[in-house]
Amino acid sequence: MRLDPDGGPLLVDGPVEVVTEDGTTHFSHRPTVALCTCRRSARYPWCDTSHRARAPKGADAPGSPEEEPR
Ligand code: FES
Repeated sequence: MRLDPDGGPLLVDGPVEVVTEDGTTHFSHRPTVALCTCRRSARYPWCDTSHRARAPKGADAPGSPEEEPR
């Protein structure tokens, strides 16, 4: 299992079975599977590279001036 340090997908060795919050089970038989961690994917739980449309690197980093209050 590998996590992209720039906020991209979680890469896991397949095949995998993922159960999402609504109870739906998703299967992939690929040798490596990219799981979405940003929740922007139209193919969630699979990464569709939508995470690349995020703000420039560092703009949403903790402590940055652009960080929104929680
Ligand atoms: S991590 Fe790639 S679309 Fe969410």
